[in-house]
Amino acid sequence: MSLDGHLHAAAEEYPMLRETVRALADEKIAPRAAAADENEEFPWEVYKDLVAADLHAVHIPEAYGGAGADALATVIVIEEVARACASSSLIPAVNKLGTVPLLLSGSQELKRRYLEPVARGEAMFSYALSEPEAGSDAAAMKTRAVRDGEHYVLNGTKMWITNAGISEFYTVMAVTDPQAGARGISAFVVEKGDAGVSFGAKEKKLGIKGSPTRQVILEDVRIPADRMIGEPGTGFKTALATLDHTRITIAAQALGIAQGALDYAIGYVKERRQFGKPVAEFQGLQFMIADMAMKLEAARQLTYAAAAKSEQAMRGEKVADLTFFSSAAKCAASDAAMEITTDAVQLLGGYGYTRDYPVERMMRDAKITQIYEGTNQIQRMVMARQLLK
Ligand code: CAA
Repeated sequence: MSLDGHLHAAAEEYPMLRETVRALADEKIAPRAAAADENEEFPWEVYKDLVAADLHAVHIPEAYGGAGADALATVIVIEEVARACASSSLIPAVNKLGTVPLLLSGSQELKRRYLEPVARGEAMFSYALSEPEAGSDAAAMKTRAVRDGEHYVLNGTKMWITNAGISEFYTVMAVTDPQAGARGISAFVVEKGDAGVSFGAKEKKLGIKGSPTRQVILEDVRIPADRMIGEPGTGFKTALATLDHTRITIAAQALGIAQGALDYAIGYVKERRQFGKPVAEFQGLQFMIADMAMKLEAARQLTYAAAAKSEQAMRGEKVADLTFFSSAAKCAASDAAMEITTDAVQLLGGYGYTRDYPVERMMRDAKITQIYEGTNQIQRMVMARQLLK
């Protein structure tokens, strides 16, 4: 199956894309989701299947050998993978997060060098902004990059890096001018194989256990100066501009997790009998199901509107409210996913609370979407700043 050339065409192709990804997810991804969670292992077989279907990094433009999916098509892919397995959905999502800095600000040469192997499925690409002492306050980072002739030498520790250790490439934000605050931060491509790069232990997490989260430790990492993405001092802006596009992919992940939980709960309440009839016939449960679907669809429409804006911006149009829409979609979809997955566990009662059923995993996985790529408190701050400026 190839999606080449089909991903930013006519509107009727989005449902086709959804069907294609759903079929693959039902057949190949869902059956492996519980084991990836239980064993805390990256689902390499899923990665191979996604690569074979050209779904592992769909957003990469055709010019660099990618599928050339637009932002909405990318959302649909992530949504459908997350419906089966949230950890697996981080493959297309983090490949986008790691590479958008290059797409926005990288030189042609850097784009060719680093996007092509990702498009071919030979390498994954992570994003390294946060540090132990710089989470919500990302500009407070301490990682330093010091110019030395034709090189930069990087020292510092990046934390909470999704898919660290399995990604070949990392966009690393580091301070090049300590006097200049946020304007003294620059972005670089660091390779896993660069001397001085190592990784912390895997974090022991509540959810998304199939996706490793580790520190990226940089000790005298000497890289050619041409690995800088954009101009010196533009790294923080590139980092935030990237999140304007990729918070929408976290919204997509949240939608997918919520849809998976809702679909499972609907199937369950139609089968489960109590008091002599399927529990779906009780109005109290019907109202819960209706509310879950209503919240999900509202979040989905907001996310698709945000994706349309992201695509316009990627094509070079000025989109004044992209930042608002991106934060709003991420916040609304992740809050909805937390509520919907919690209600799905409730609908399954005691069974829902066990690992014999998938909804407790979905509830645990949903929680991270309220936290990463900026907590939902940060999203509200970003929205308010946009509204009040
Ligand atoms: N696009 C481009 N530039 C932007 C921008 C945007 N959306 N928002 C702000 N900027 C610019 C500002 O204009 C400013 O530049 P000038 O000084 O030249 O005007 C500069 O960036 C600094 O902006 P602020 O003063 O607003 O910065 P701040 O220090 O107040 O921080 C913040 C802003 C919104 C709180 C930001 O720090 C933030 O988003 N924090 C959350 C961090 C975050 O989301 N981390 C996620 C890590 S990634 C992750 O989780 C990935 C994973 O593994 C899945």
